[in-house]
Amino acid sequence: MISKVIEKAFNDQLAAETYSAYLYWSMSAALEEMQLPGFAHWMRAQAQEEMNHAVKFYHHIVERGGRVKLGAIAAPPAEWESPAKMFEEVLKHERHVTALIHKLVETAAQEKDYAAGVFLQWFVNEQVEEEAAAELILSKIKMIQDSKGGLYMLDKEMGQRGAGD
Ligand code: FEO
Repeated sequence: MISKVIEKAFNDQLAAETYSAYLYWSMSAALEEMQLPGFAHWMRAQAQEEMNHAVKFYHHIVERGGRVKLGAIAAPPAEWESPAKMFEEVLKHERHVTALIHKLVETAAQEKDYAAGVFLQWFVNEQVEEEAAAELILSKIKMIQDSKGGLYMLDKEMGQRGAGD
């Protein structure tokens, strides 16, 4: 049985992951408007991953005899000045999510909830990947600076992204 503390913390994270999906979906729409379909595809795949993360929390709460309770999801921003500004925000957001996950690991340890601790290890590793991916894309965007040809090539590359967890 899951403690009330972990149940609440996991429901909050389920909402945070859903907000991440919402944020990236909004970014995808803005990228479509910027005529960057490859970037938009990448961002929709990212949004889908975030929904997968939310579902992992959903299942863990249910499996442990807890109750999933859905909270309100705030409206994400809708406009970004450039892909560079957007990916700066992606990186900042992922660092924020990493901090949330680390806090959950601490809470699980305080609650002596070893199953939750093991479950969260996947997310600890995932956040390393998420931050690294955002950093890499941001560095590529900075590398090409204002080159339209460079952005076109990078858009093609971003369009190759497959589905992940
Ligand atoms: Fe679910 Fe991008 O962290």
